[in-house]
Amino acid sequence: MKPLPGAEVRARYLRFFEERGHKRMPSDSLVPANDPTLLFTGAGMNQFKDMFLGRGHLPYKRVTTAQKCLRVPDLENVGLTPRHHTFFEMLGNFSFGDYFKKDCLEWEWQFFTEVLGIPADRLVATVYLDDDEAYTIWREHIGLPAERIFRFGEKENFWPAEAPSKGPNGPCGPCSEIYFDGRPGTAYPKNEGLTSLPDDRFTEIGNCVFTQFDRQADGSLTPLPQRNIDVGLGLERITAVLHGAKNNFETDLFRPYLDHLGKLAKVAYGSNPQQDVRMRRISDHVRAVTFCIADGALPSNEGRGYVVRKILRRAVRDGYDLGIDKPFLHDMVGLVGDVMGEEYPEVREHAGQCRSVIKGEEESFVGVYRQGLARLEQFLSEHGSAVRGAALPASGTFAFQLHDTYGFPVDITRTVMAERGFVLDEPGFEAAMEAQRTRARAAMATTDAVFAESAAAVLRQAGVGTSEFVGYGTLIVSTPILALLDRDNRACERVEQGQEVSIVLGETPFYAQGGGQVGDRGTIASETGRAEVRSTTVLEGYWLQQAVVAEGGLAVGQLCEARVDEVARRATERNHTATHLLHAALKRVLGAHVSQAGSEVSPDRLRFDYTHGERLGEEQIARLEEEVNAVVIQAAPVEPRLMPLDAAKKAGFVAMFGEKYGETVRTLTIGDYSRELCGGTHVANSGNIGSFRIVAEGAISAGTRRIEAVTGLSALALAQRDRATLGQLATQLKVPAAEVLARVGAVLDEGKQLRKALEKATAADLDKLGAEMRAQAQAVGDAHVAVLATHASMTMKEVQELLARVRQALTPFAGAVLAPAAGEVLVGAAVSAELSKRVSAADLVKAATSVLGGGGGGRPEMAQGKGKDSTKLAAAGEAVLAAIRAALAP
Ligand code: SER
Repeated sequence: MKPLPGAEVRARYLRFFEERGHKRMPSDSLVPANDPTLLFTGAGMNQFKDMFLGRGHLPYKRVTTAQKCLRVPDLENVGLTPRHHTFFEMLGNFSFGDYFKKDCLEWEWQFFTEVLGIPADRLVATVYLDDDEAYTIWREHIGLPAERIFRFGEKENFWPAEAPSKGPNGPCGPCSEIYFDGRPGTAYPKNEGLTSLPDDRFTEIGNCVFTQFDRQADGSLTPLPQRNIDVGLGLERITAVLHGAKNNFETDLFRPYLDHLGKLAKVAYGSNPQQDVRMRRISDHVRAVTFCIADGALPSNEGRGYVVRKILRRAVRDGYDLGIDKPFLHDMVGLVGDVMGEEYPEVREHAGQCRSVIKGEEESFVGVYRQGLARLEQFLSEHGSAVRGAALPASGTFAFQLHDTYGFPVDITRTVMAERGFVLDEPGFEAAMEAQRTRARAAMATTDAVFAESAAAVLRQAGVGTSEFVGYGTLIVSTPILALLDRDNRACERVEQGQEVSIVLGETPFYAQGGGQVGDRGTIASETGRAEVRSTTVLEGYWLQQAVVAEGGLAVGQLCEARVDEVARRATERNHTATHLLHAALKRVLGAHVSQAGSEVSPDRLRFDYTHGERLGEEQIARLEEEVNAVVIQAAPVEPRLMPLDAAKKAGFVAMFGEKYGETVRTLTIGDYSRELCGGTHVANSGNIGSFRIVAEGAISAGTRRIEAVTGLSALALAQRDRATLGQLATQLKVPAAEVLARVGAVLDEGKQLRKALEKATAADLDKLGAEMRAQAQAVGDAHVAVLATHASMTMKEVQELLARVRQALTPFAGAVLAPAAGEVLVGAAVSAELSKRVSAADLVKAATSVLGGGGGGRPEMAQGKGKDSTKLAAAGEAVLAAIRAALAP
């Protein structure tokens, strides 16, 4: 078998199906555009779900794609097993009510055997239990021997898996899978018990789904009006098979990453199995992270961003474990572009952003490590007194949070805890991990939502025409109501007071949420009633005014007056134009590397996210405000224009990262200061902004920062609020406003002095108590023994500090300190390492608390506890002494 490069497999596949009448379509974004319920695109069919229902609007019946996919539930297996990935490519061919099983299976067979040249005797097939039609095609038409056709149940041979018994409702169907046989000539397994084919011999290389049923709520499967084909082939697996590789990574699709890592870590791939796993994992993760960022999913603490951050941190940690002692992952973005940029140009176009975002995350990981340690210390000091030598309560959940949120490795948590004498609550940790895995699986599972009818599909089905947006020029129009959809997206003729409704109009002045700008609100009134529009969205050409009927009722066909809330719209426009000015100002003040990573423009404020590694100084913030306000007072014209995308890019208009544009784009120029692509609404003249003020500046993830700002009267309100705060401060401090700063400085200084004095006093006390202990120390065998029962007021930390000092001064040492505090008795015990096998500090604490009541625990070398009855202080001290003597007696 001649090893074909992965890219050639992809190209031949797409060509093969193009030659058979398929329209070649681009991969959908990894971030599904119209499906907020889906975190990431996980299969080629996702973008065509309406087409399977017969309600899509594509003019094609046959389509082929190479789709970027991300599946997170397999994360733990990546690198360990030969075939798992987070990011992978799925080659797909689809029929929407056109060809069916026979053509489908025949073509996949031809593709594998003739186009790729896989010998026919290396392939086996599976079919669904009762799918005799597929069986017969394999057996009689293609000629596959009966012992190489396996019948399996709905877990293996239905898509979505187990749909008949478990759902989801909606389109589904039996499937037929094609496997590559890694050990031909050996007897075929019997099709007994319908278990999976053994993994190490057979590799699944294709899944042909016959999407022919519509699962009903009662669990019955009714035939769909049209029968569809949904085929998915894993490119990485096929390439591995062709290369005769023992795992997907040892092919040209991954080799460049493995070689690069080998050089960097100075361990050639293949020389150390444990390091190999890490290199494979990094190779998978760098592709996932690069593609996610290029599609606009930036690392963050929630939703998609959270997943991206998690994958990224795992790769970074693997790098550390490989012994790479500097940020390295961002340097691999170029390799992703080299291997995959031909097919997916976005990874080359956005390489700069990907690099800078990844680099920022890598650098901040050091900080995360430190932060994690600090949190762990704090947790232990807060929960330490509850220790009984057994698992520390709540430590499992806590370790999970550290691992999950901060990427802090659990093995480090375990080690640090053990060093302090604590035991990690392992079952608690496992339970939290399992709950997380369940959540991840649920988030990725094909839920009802995958097949839920979109509002657009319902409207198209009902023959409703799309809306025309006229809101750039006007805010009030008289227009017919074309359709009304209730909360569940069902079309209805009338809606009454109190009902939530999406209203579709012929012409609409309402701007639909997009390009960072919020959707318009306002009112829609007919002669029979009035609805309050709370927001507006657009779906495939349909403007949906989301409203609540406030008075009377509305009916389809009525003429209505649609009126945008002008005050809110104008405020939004001020903020939107100011956002463009801020973007341009950032490039001037910070440099050309700044690029937009997201924005949100509402009537109240604007939020702008951008790529930049460092916090802004006061001076830079002031300069940004000056830049923007300088353009405001110039009263520069704000001019929109439509032009072809290419012309706009050539003319230097800034396109937004992660955003998709059509052939014709709307450009926006503000004087000679800013040029951007933008579909939003804006003031006519920069002077209308009135005033611009930055409210907040901070990081949202490493390498990405956020600015929040206000304009117009909100900027004035902010200045007034600041003045009021300063006034209140002055009153409280009893000085004129101009002296507030000096006064606050003086108060803080005073606090510092007092704290210092207090620390000094404590240190002196500890010195004194230490001297006292050393003086009363007695020799027991070769050990120094001292037990101090004192009435000095101490904290547990001071008790431990005191013991640590004495132990250091007198080695080998065994002893304890007992001190009353807040109605209890603090008990600390310390033993030098060399004695700790003979006498354990934890036992000494127990000796004290058995007299005092109460309890405690810890390690053999340092332990602590609390006693109840402070009147027995002296007796408890004696008990400890006796315990030491008994233990150390020769
Ligand atoms: N939808 C099927 C899968 O994901 C085939 O494309 O396996």
